Amino acid sequence: MDKDAFIAGLPKAELHMHIEGSLEPELMFALAERNGVALPYANVEALRAAYSFSRLQDFLDIYYQGAAVLRAEADFRDLALAYFKRAAADNVRHAEIFFDPQTHTARGLPFAVAAEGLLAGMAEAERELGVTSKLILCFLRHLPEADAFETLAQAEPWLDRIAGVGLDSSELGHPPAAFARVFARAGELGLKRVAHAGEEGPPAYVEEALDLLHIDRLDHGNRSLEDDRLVERLARSGMTLTVCPLSNLKLCVVDDVARHPIARMLRLGLRATVNSDDPAYFGGYVNANYRAVAPLLTREEMVALARNSFTGSFLAPDAVARHLAEVEAYATAWV
Ligand code: HPA
Ligand code: ZN
Repeated sequence: MDKDAFIAGLPKAELHMHIEGSLEPELMFALAERNGVALPYANVEALRAAYSFSRLQDFLDIYYQGAAVLRAEADFRDLALAYFKRAAADNVRHAEIFFDPQTHTARGLPFAVAAEGLLAGMAEAERELGVTSKLILCFLRHLPEADAFETLAQAEPWLDRIAGVGLDSSELGHPPAAFARVFARAGELGLKRVAHAGEEGPPAYVEEALDLLHIDRLDHGNRSLEDDRLVERLARSGMTLTVCPLSNLKLCVVDDVARHPIARMLRLGLRATVNSDDPAYFGGYVNANYRAVAPLLTREEMVALARNSFTGSFLAPDAVARHLAEVEAYATAWV
């Protein structure tokens, strides 16, 4: 079987993708010029050469710096559309994208600029490319919970167009427990809840995300594997894990993609999915992530990953069922 061709045509959803992390160097330079923002790199090649990370924080420093070129609604719309074109080319049918409003409001942009621009790009992607999407607002965990509350208040006029809240940025030293109250408030507002946990942080952070944030989905979750009882709990509850192989490699969460734990996760009964995280920084969009781990997986396991991406989404059950039927039809046609 030609695994690459199989992956290319496999209908899939993407559930873990930071839209600011899809800012390609070429677009970053174009927006810098459009907005008169100075970049500390001579050109695209020099910028790309700086994408060498040994831990999450190395990446975050460059990622927040890059986001400074985003100034106007049209910039966010262009950013979103550029991502959706790449996603559509990878046969992504549905994407649930993260954004970091605090990165932009801290620079003086109103919440509305990022939200309206992204929502415009999402609507256009659905119209022009047939890719549906949902928006997830992430709180930056290196900032105080009070700032997250302030962000949630700013988001109020858009809450009918925001599917959920997430928790991202520097994990170590910033446990989920610090955000229990703002996540409770998000729950009262009817929002879904997800959190990055167990990327660099210990299994205890995953437990906090379950017990204190009441998450509907776990982002990364790699270090859950260090705790057998936690693995059993995640498997038993049917928790979806949004795993990001190339991100794990670039941020040294794994030392070799050939030893990535995705196969082990599936064989332990975890509902793992494959995602790109920050594709402009980590060397590939979602299909590149599937291809990176394909040597470790059977064809049936790759189908399971696609199936999990829809069952783990926040789509309504009828939409999930339609997508699952397409996945089954595709898999059957390949036999
Ligand atoms: N982890 C934490 N925060 C992030 C990431 C990530 O992988 N990507 C963008 N913000
Ligand atoms: Zn992430």
